[in-house]
Amino acid sequence: MIITNGLQHDSVEGFNTYNQRVRKTATQGQIWSGILSPLLSGMSLLNTAIVIFAGSWLALSGSLSTGAALAWVVVFVNYAQQYYQPIITLTSLYGMIQLAITGARRVDEVRSQPDEVRPVNGQPIDHIDRALKIDDVRFSYLPGKEILHGVTIDVKKGQMVALVGPTGSGKTTVMNLLNRFYDVDSGSITIDGTDLREFDLAQLRHTVGIVLQDPQLFTGTIADNIRFGDPEAGMDRVIDAAKQANIHDFIESLPEGYETKVSDEQNIFSAGQKQLMSIARTILTDPRLLILDEATSNVDTVTEAKIQAAMDNVIQGRTSFVIAHRLKTILNADRIVVLQHGRIIEQGSHQELLAQHGFYAELYRNQMVFE
Ligand SMILES: Nc1ncnc2c1ncn2[C@@H]1O[C@H](COP(=O)(O)OP(=O)(O)OP(=O)(O)O)[C@@H](O)[C@H]1O
Ligand SMILES: [Mg+2]
Repeated sequence: MIITNGLQHDSVEGFNTYNQRVRKTATQGQIWSGILSPLLSGMSLLNTAIVIFAGSWLALSGSLSTGAALAWVVVFVNYAQQYYQPIITLTSLYGMIQLAITGARRVDEVRSQPDEVRPVNGQPIDHIDRALKIDDVRFSYLPGKEILHGVTIDVKKGQMVALVGPTGSGKTTVMNLLNRFYDVDSGSITIDGTDLREFDLAQLRHTVGIVLQDPQLFTGTIADNIRFGDPEAGMDRVIDAAKQANIHDFIESLPEGYETKVSDEQNIFSAGQKQLMSIARTILTDPRLLILDEATSNVDTVTEAKIQAAMDNVIQGRTSFVIAHRLKTILNADRIVVLQHGRIIEQGSHQELLAQHGFYAELYRNQMVFE
């Protein structure tokens, strides 16, 4: 963005004020901590000089005998050094103490974040027997600004439910709630009758698999990336997942195959390839409930067909939510739920919705014109 808009100069300028402030503060800090230590050493020497001078003066003026004055000087010089030494040591550590206090403050900031609320003895789940139910759910990210206004969706085991609707209608929000990134304000989400909040969180996330629209690859090899959800998985399972995700042939065509290094700086994959790899990653974890968020929005038609086939592979036999902008991908969903402004305005199968001549029918007709 910076380069295409020719803003290199301006964005460097933007950092200048901060850099100058850092430079000024750092210089001041160094000057003060540099001065402090020699200043105190100087004072300690001055102190010794005063003691010796006073001792000599007392001896010379005759108010003390030379022997007593000498003993007096020795004792006081000794004391002066003893109490100055720790002070000098402390001041030389002053900079470090300041850094430590700053560090402690940051640690404290993290530690004072409220914990996620969850029951101590959350129930384990390893399968969905009957159904997932979203019941009259209301939710707001920020207090007073409700995003979902009473959403009810009932999904039977093994069903595929598609969520469609305009941008900002709350589709991704529903997905966030299913994975318990957030908790509902009122209403409930239940799996086989048990509230989501009563499940063990780690196990819930194991049960729910998510493919995001914007897939992330981590530093490591391709194989590491695919077995991310289950680092113990053997190579056969990795290859199997890649085959199901339709990405095996591409990986094999790379000179280093599954051992190809992936990193942020050296990103040699297209958006579609990344998407397929993240689908493979999700397949490998074998989730009971699957959520696909707009998995086909930024790829060509050949890749789209591949992703579609990969999705069909993962969806098979699993309870799944598919959030889609391209309606072609969800024609065979068991049920299509149309969201608008956080409310369900229509739901039913593709044929039923077409027959209603409502929002969905309109959306579908518009898309078909371009296909
Ligand atoms: N973290 C957040 N904090 C506050 N508001 C948010 C947050 N995330 C989303 N919203 C708001 O919630 C509403 C629904 O957003 P959501 O991401 O669910 O839309 P969506 O249906 O997934 O849209 P799209 O089709 O563009 O992906 C939007 O109005 C958005 O501004
Ligand atoms: Mg979204």
